[in-house]
Amino acid sequence: MQEAKFIWMDGKFVKWKDAKVHVLTHALQYGTAVFEGIRCYKTDKGPAIFKLHDHLTRLKDSAHILGFGFPHSVDELKKVVVKLVAKNGLKECYIRPLVYLPYGKMGLNIVGMKPKTMVAAFPWDAYLGKTGEEKGIRAKVSSFLRPQVDSTMNDAKTAGNYVNSVLAKQEAVQSGFDEAIMLDANGYVAEASAENIFIFRHGSLWTPPTSIALEGMTRKTVFDLVNAGIVNAFIKEEVFTRDDVYSADECFLTGTAAEITPVVEVDNRKIGSGKPGNYTKQLQQAYRDVTHGKVKQFLDWLTFVK
Ligand SMILES: Cc1ncc(COP(=O)(O)O)c(C=O)c1O
Repeated sequence: MQEAKFIWMDGKFVKWKDAKVHVLTHALQYGTAVFEGIRCYKTDKGPAIFKLHDHLTRLKDSAHILGFGFPHSVDELKKVVVKLVAKNGLKECYIRPLVYLPYGKMGLNIVGMKPKTMVAAFPWDAYLGKTGEEKGIRAKVSSFLRPQVDSTMNDAKTAGNYVNSVLAKQEAVQSGFDEAIMLDANGYVAEASAENIFIFRHGSLWTPPTSIALEGMTRKTVFDLVNAGIVNAFIKEEVFTRDDVYSADECFLTGTAAEITPVVEVDNRKIGSGKPGNYTKQLQQAYRDVTHGKVKQFLDWLTFVK
């Protein structure tokens, strides 16, 4: 990974190499941490963080779902993030806030434990690769299912939950694919290992409901772009099946890290023409424009770093 100069840890900016915790940190032992992934983009008015408030609100919600406290308010963390990007002199970056249970207690009884917070910011290119973004990726339906909705609280971005995604991603990559598409416990398509999924089929843009997929910020941005008429489509938030994906005209994944990435092949079957489709390309362009501050209407989605 590419390093930056400073990481913020509970009120202090510490040097990257000094941002350390004890090996018996509760979160390291049991996955008891919640996190966010946020991107900052280069714009004509300097670096700008996309949907910062919404991401930090989701972080707070994740902490609440796990029954953690939230040591710093959303407004405090907003200031921290802006200062961190500026202090690191980053023009474009990925931002990772984490609220985690610290060292001090072993065992599963977390009642009374006080979480700590860290925020890192560092350069990170297209998660599924530049070529993937341009030409599309190949995906595999995973043999690992998303946990049932009443088991691990999938709305929370909990570190421990991501072992499920890691297993799916590992299986996909070791089988020669770029990404894993995951089904829910009823066999419906839920999402990818770290992205939401959309298909274009029978004239509509379909995406699974948030009861079985993370309420992604990028997913919501696609809805907003469509509702604002910037991309002319009709969205259906409904369950669909693996064979619906095979027969789709287009398929794409959305995520802060992966942005909007076309899927051109699933389980060795071409999707549509086997090339990124028109809706996918239009949405990619619109997303690029709003994140880079080129659409006046959506400038309030950006927090500028002065
Ligand atoms: C499981 C999962 N689904 C979907 C997403 C996409 O969410 P967002 O667009 O908020 O990054 C992510 C990324 O964090 C994820 O981990």
